[in-house]
Amino acid sequence: MLTIAPSLLSGDFGCLAQNARDLTEAGADWIHFDVMDGRFVPNLTFGPQVVRALRDDTDRYFDCHLMVERPDFYIRQFAEAGANNLTIHYEATHAAHRVLGRIREAGMHAGLALCPATPVHAIEELLPELDLLLIMSVDPGFGGQEFIPRSLGRLRQAREIIDASGQHIRLEVDGGINHDTVREVVAAGAAVLVAGSAIFRHPDGLAAGIAALRSAG
Ligand code: DX5
Ligand code: ZN
Repeated sequence: MLTIAPSLLSGDFGCLAQNARDLTEAGADWIHFDVMDGRFVPNLTFGPQVVRALRDDTDRYFDCHLMVERPDFYIRQFAEAGANNLTIHYEATHAAHRVLGRIREAGMHAGLALCPATPVHAIEELLPELDLLLIMSVDPGFGGQEFIPRSLGRLRQAREIIDASGQHIRLEVDGGINHDTVREVVAAGAAVLVAGSAIFRHPDGLAAGIAALRSAG
C-alpha cells in the first residue's frame, strides 16, 4: 500500500492553505513540507509557522523534511505547530542519535534523510531511533530536478537493511518521482512517495497526479 506525500514546495506560496485543502480533497495521504534555511541548501522556504497555519485546514499527516543546519533548534516549534513527522538530514548534525531521540520525546515520528552521496550503511547505527528513512533521489534544495538513477540501488540497499532489522521503518523517496520513475522506485522498495512537480504540474490536476503515482503500487 503506497503512501503519497505531495510536496508543497511545488505549490503556490500565495495560497498554501488552499493547496493543502485541495491536496486533501485530491486524495493525498501526507503533506510534505520542504523546510529550507538557505544554509544547508541554497534555498529558503518556510518554517513551523506555516505548518501551524495549515494545521487546521486538513487532517492529513504532516511530513516535515528539514533541510536545515542545527535541526535540534526547531524540534519543539514543529511539535507545537502540529507536525506528525520530523525528518532531519544525517549530514546536518554530528548528534543524529540524540536529535532523533528528542524528536520522539516531543511526540513526533523521527525520520532521517540521506543526501545522494551519503553511504546508505550509515543508518545501521541509528536503526532503533528511526520511524522513517528518506532516500533523496536528487540533490536537496529544489523541485523539478532530474531523478538520479543510482538512487534505485540505494533504495534496494535501504530496503534490505530495514527488512533485516525487523523494525517498522518507513522507506520514503524524494526527488524526481514521476510517471517515468515511479514504478522502478516502488519495485526497489520505496513505500512513501514524495512528489512536487509530478502532482502540481499534472495536466489533469492534483487528483490525477496522485492517482497516477498510486497506481504504480
Ligand atoms: C527537494 C525536496 C523535494 C522536492 C520534490 O529538496 O526535498 O521534496 O520538493 O520535488 P519534485 O517532485 O518536483 O522533484
Ligand atoms: Zn522533500
